[in-house]
Amino acid sequence: MADEAERRRLATRLIHPDSHASTDFKSFAVPTYRGSTVLFPNMDAAEQPLPGQYRYGIDGTPTARELSARLAAIEGAEQVFLAPSGLAAISLTLLALTSAGGRVLLPESAYGPTGALLGGLLARFGVAMDPYDPLIGHGIADLITPDTQLIWCESPGSITMEVQDIPAIAAAAKARAVPVAIDNTYGAGVLFDAFAAGADVSVQALTKYQGGHSDVLMGSVAVRSPDLGAKLARAQRLLGLSASPDDCSLVLRGLKTLDLRLRHLGESAIQVAKWLALREEVTAVLHPAFPDCPGHETWKRDWSGSASVFSVILGRWTREQVVRFVDSLRLFGIGYSWGGANSLAFTYRDLKRPSPELGPLLVRLNIGLEDPADLIADLEQALESAVR
Ligand SMILES: Cc1ncc(COP(=O)(O)O)c(C=O)c1O
Repeated sequence: MADEAERRRLATRLIHPDSHASTDFKSFAVPTYRGSTVLFPNMDAAEQPLPGQYRYGIDGTPTARELSARLAAIEGAEQVFLAPSGLAAISLTLLALTSAGGRVLLPESAYGPTGALLGGLLARFGVAMDPYDPLIGHGIADLITPDTQLIWCESPGSITMEVQDIPAIAAAAKARAVPVAIDNTYGAGVLFDAFAAGADVSVQALTKYQGGHSDVLMGSVAVRSPDLGAKLARAQRLLGLSASPDDCSLVLRGLKTLDLRLRHLGESAIQVAKWLALREEVTAVLHPAFPDCPGHETWKRDWSGSASVFSVILGRWTREQVVRFVDSLRLFGIGYSWGGANSLAFTYRDLKRPSPELGPLLVRLNIGLEDPADLIADLEQALESAVR
C-alpha cells in the first residue's frame, strides 16, 4: 500500500496526500469546516441517510450547525435557519410562509427592502401586502382577513423606532390562527424575548450585533413550532440558501462578546442620546428609552434594555443644515447598517415618517464602541458647523 502510494504521480499525491497531521487538537475556536461535497462511507449510507446526517454543503456544515444551535439557545428556539444576509432571512421567511392569493400585514415602519420584496417579487407571485400602523396593537384584529397568511412585525421600526405591542398583536393573530413573524434584529434575541411575547418566528440580521464588527453579512430565522420549521427547511433547501462556513465562524466569534458589547453599546447610546435631548437644535429623540419615542411605554413593559441605534429630529433646521451636520461629523461614518464597533450617521432625503416635513430632518445614529465623551464632542462641533 505504501509502495503504491509512493509510485503515484504528483497530481494524484496533491489530491490524495500520503500522510495527515494529527487532529488531536483542542482550542476555544469552533473549527471552520468547508465543504460542498460531503463524503459517505458507502452507497447505502448515501441512499438512505439518517435524519440530520450531513449530506451536502447546503444542508449545513458542523460550523453552521454549531452557530444555529448557539443562536437557538439564546432565543429559546427549537430550530434556527441560517441565511447569507438579514434580507435573505426575511425573504426565506416570506417565501416559506406565503402562497398565491395570500396577504401579509406589514408595519409602515418596516425595513424598506422588506416592503420592496413584498410589493415587488412577492406581488408578482400573487401575494398582497397590507400596510398597517406599527402602533396598532389589539387593533390588528380588524385588519386580519381570511386570506391573511402572515403578520410581519418589526420592533422598534426601522429609522423611526416605533416600539410595537407584540403581545397584543400575537394574541389577535392566535385567535385567527395566523402566524406572527418579527424582525427582531434590534433586540438581538437578547433584549426582547420574541417567543415569550407570542411571536412564532424571530428573524434577525446577524450582520448587526452578532457579527458585531461590520465585516460579515448573515441572517437567521428562529422558530419553535415543528410545522413552521418544516416549511422553512423545505423553502431553504429549494432556494439553495446556505451560509458560508467562514461567515459562520466570524459570527461565532462575535457571539462570545455579544452580551458585553450590547450592554456597553446600550449604555453609550443612552449617554449620547441624553446629551442630544438637552440640545435646543434637537426637537425629538427617537430612542425606545426616551418618552419622545412612539411605544416608549410598551418598551418599558416588554424590553430588558436598549441597543445602539436611534434617531434625532432637528426639527427647526433646513434639510441643507441637516446634511451639513452629518457631513461635518468626524468620528461617525456615513453608511448603511449598524451594530458594529464604529459609529455611523445617516439622513434620508425622501423619508415620509414621522411626517413628510420632519422625515428629511431626521438623522439616524449608530453609536459604536468609541468613548462616548469623544462622540459627544464630535456631535457638538458638527452641530455648530452646520449653522455657521
Ligand atoms: C431591521 C433590519 N432588518 C434586516 C436588515 C437586513 O440585514 P442585512 O443587511 O444583513 O441584509 C437590516 C439592515 O440594515 C435592518 O436594519
